[in-house]
Amino acid sequence: MNKITEFETVYLEEEKGALAIVDQTKLPNKIEMLYLTTAKEIWDAIYLLKVRGAPAIGVAAAIGIYVLVKDEPTDNMDVFAEKFQELKQYLSTSRPTAVNLFWALDRMENVVKENHAHTVLEVKELLHEEALKIREEDIKVCRKLGEYGLTLVKKGDGLLTHCNAGRLAAVKYGTATAPMYIGQEQGYGFHIYVDETRPLLQGARLTAFELDTAGLDVTLICDNMSGMVMKKGLIQAVFVGCDRVASNGDTANKIGTSVVAAVAKHYNVPFYVCAPTSTIDMSLASGCEIPIEERSGEEITEMWYEKRMAPKGVKVFNPCFDVTDHELITAIVTEYGIARPPYDVSLKKIFEMKKNNL
Ligand code: MRU
Repeated sequence: MNKITEFETVYLEEEKGALAIVDQTKLPNKIEMLYLTTAKEIWDAIYLLKVRGAPAIGVAAAIGIYVLVKDEPTDNMDVFAEKFQELKQYLSTSRPTAVNLFWALDRMENVVKENHAHTVLEVKELLHEEALKIREEDIKVCRKLGEYGLTLVKKGDGLLTHCNAGRLAAVKYGTATAPMYIGQEQGYGFHIYVDETRPLLQGARLTAFELDTAGLDVTLICDNMSGMVMKKGLIQAVFVGCDRVASNGDTANKIGTSVVAAVAKHYNVPFYVCAPTSTIDMSLASGCEIPIEERSGEEITEMWYEKRMAPKGVKVFNPCFDVTDHELITAIVTEYGIARPPYDVSLKKIFEMKKNNL
């Protein structure tokens, strides 16, 4: 069987003129590439989690909008900009929580706005460059973030992660998994514990799959087992990804993350959020302002079961993300270094470094 590590998770397929993704809903049983060329296909792929994870959603949106406008027949910049706006608006309704979606679409839109005096052909070329740049940056950012993350742990540590903040959720390395992959290159011999992550099983289907394929030592556990493994002393640090971090450090990530953080605090296990600056939303004062996606109840009552596993008609609440209060977070690892509490001060410093390109 082909290895998932041999596949590019999200990229621009130039010959087909398509956004190429690995269909993550089919993993781990089948590795299938999808080549998307229409707005509906791209919107559906994001909404249905065929491509998912905050950084990958951002990269898919950037490449996706380029694919959608590259053959626009007009040579009138006003008409082109209007069409771009329409598509941006449509794609931005696909998922609400991961700020990378809006961040990437805004970056692409800025190219159109800042070059309004250029020809449509020139702007298309600049959009092509920007989409590829966003993708390339993700690789560098995750690598950097992984190097900083690695300074927080020791050889042989047990590490716990929740959901999939791995290479499938990004372009390469992932965020929470970046210290794990880089540690593997350097012979750290980590023992990785992976929460299965109800209800969509990103931990079991994706994280366990990619880390195991890459040759790391992986143990899969149910979501309600993190207390048990921490009490036993098997976990020296928790690394998770994020979908949106507010300026005070409150962090939205996959549902269940805040429970892991509370348990980690109880057992004195450091809890680290790996956050590319593209996932930090400095416009929000706190996590209360982060929009939280709710999904169909059937993901809980029916999906994955041979037959329905809950009484018909029972009320179901299925929030996709929760917000971990900043008090529960030991540090936020970014590509510009490690932010420690108080986050309203340290995150500002991180963004100053970003502005000054340090
Ligand atoms: O609903 P998903 O699978 O898109 O949720 C993904 C997560 O919660 C990840 O932890 C987060 O996006 C970080 S990915 C580097």
